[in-house]
Amino acid sequence: MVQNQVTLRRLARQTLRSRPLVVVSNREPYIHTRHNDEVTVMRPASGMVVALDPVLRACGGIWVAHGSGDADQQAADARGHVPVPPENPAYTLRRVWLSKEQEEGYYYGFSNSGLWPLCHIAYRRPIFEKSHWDTYREVNELFAQSIAEEIGDQPAFVFVQDYHLALLPRMLKERNPNVIVALFWHIPWPNPEAFRICPWKKALLEGLLGCDILGFHVRYHCNNFIDTVDRELEALPDREMTAVVYGGHITKVRSFPISVDFAAITAAADTPQVARLMKQWRAKYKLPRNNIGIGVDRLDYTKGIPERLRAIDRFLENHPEYVGNFVFVQIGVPSRTHVAEYRKLGEEVEEIVGQINRKHRKGVWKPIVYLAEHHEPPDIYALYRLARFCIVSSLHDGMNLVAKEFVSANIKEDGVLLLSRFTGAARQLRQAMIINPYAVDELSESIYTALTMSDKEVQARMRRLRETVRENNIYKWAESILRKLSRLA
Ligand code: F6P
Repeated sequence: MVQNQVTLRRLARQTLRSRPLVVVSNREPYIHTRHNDEVTVMRPASGMVVALDPVLRACGGIWVAHGSGDADQQAADARGHVPVPPENPAYTLRRVWLSKEQEEGYYYGFSNSGLWPLCHIAYRRPIFEKSHWDTYREVNELFAQSIAEEIGDQPAFVFVQDYHLALLPRMLKERNPNVIVALFWHIPWPNPEAFRICPWKKALLEGLLGCDILGFHVRYHCNNFIDTVDRELEALPDREMTAVVYGGHITKVRSFPISVDFAAITAAADTPQVARLMKQWRAKYKLPRNNIGIGVDRLDYTKGIPERLRAIDRFLENHPEYVGNFVFVQIGVPSRTHVAEYRKLGEEVEEIVGQINRKHRKGVWKPIVYLAEHHEPPDIYALYRLARFCIVSSLHDGMNLVAKEFVSANIKEDGVLLLSRFTGAARQLRQAMIINPYAVDELSESIYTALTMSDKEVQARMRRLRETVRENNIYKWAESILRKLSRLA
């Protein structure tokens, strides 16, 4: 086990000796699904799961989450309990059951059609439906009730994840004043001007101000939150201490930049299996020797996928010498397809890829390979290693972990990261080529620069990037939040 993991485990044991830990999130850390007649357990590809699963494994505790798998009920007992990890149980997963209507209103509705576009400045209009809001409140209550059933009125640490559960901190404090509550907001917090259109803004802020600690990825989002509170509530923001006093309760607002498991990805990218997969990618898609670019994203309109495709089109117009000798592989993992904006994006991307490929096609060669499907990590690591450059062109992103994964997998230090200035990651990964996804010409020239940069410069930049991610890894993220919690106990 690497040093960071050992430190995190030790800290978890010391900190949590006195009080149980409850982690709460919408997405569960283990999902049971049925294939034909067989039930299998899947772990979602989520940085949050990577960080918090070892903490709970070390000190025990409970993880409360929506049971979304089609075999979840079958795998749990009558209280929704499942001992996990299944092969060597160390803590309890408590599943919360939601009806189809509840999932529709709370997850697809208020969370992903309202709060998601509200917090990401990607010029998509948020949809605010009273029925979605009512369901969001109802589901937050359901989570509060499930947690109360687990801990009663004993002192506990409750660590809540993300925008699906903004009302939970206050609900928990009202039920049990002995809990210490932290919430980490995994997406950006917008400026007060953008936030003020939400019809239920006051209730959301009051919910979050039930926290003892409220975490964001970067200081900028902390400041936006404090400015929003200042505008919307009769509260006392303390900018010096980055805290808010509301109704006599103090909420400390802090930045904790999330990351990836650098050591694990570095090791996993350096295996014979990945070397084999690299050969398979090359053969299957007739990839050129050099000049391979990649993009790996959930199919989400915040990721700037059409913008980067347009930049590739412009790059080929301006640099025809690359026609026939360049390929861009775009992985688009389908996501939240019940929401109309996501379906529209899928169609738009297909359309643009088709246009660009028709325009620049030469014989059997075409510039873009577009794969709208999930790929297992070793496949993605192989692609990361083949790439001369990776484009992360988010229009707005809390952090963006693809950028950090690409760096972690780049064991030969031969790749260039093109990183949107509108990601949290751009504040840490200074040696990336920082881009503006809205500026098509500028981005297309950055692609050219990435392809023609000297190997020495590529290596120097990547080496520094790897030091940054090695140092600021996912265990550091969990560790710094645990330290803050332990000081409050
Ligand atoms: O970025 C916010 C986030 O919730 C991540 O934590 C997660 O990986 C991603 O969005 C996808 O979320 P989901 O598929 O659970 O809606």
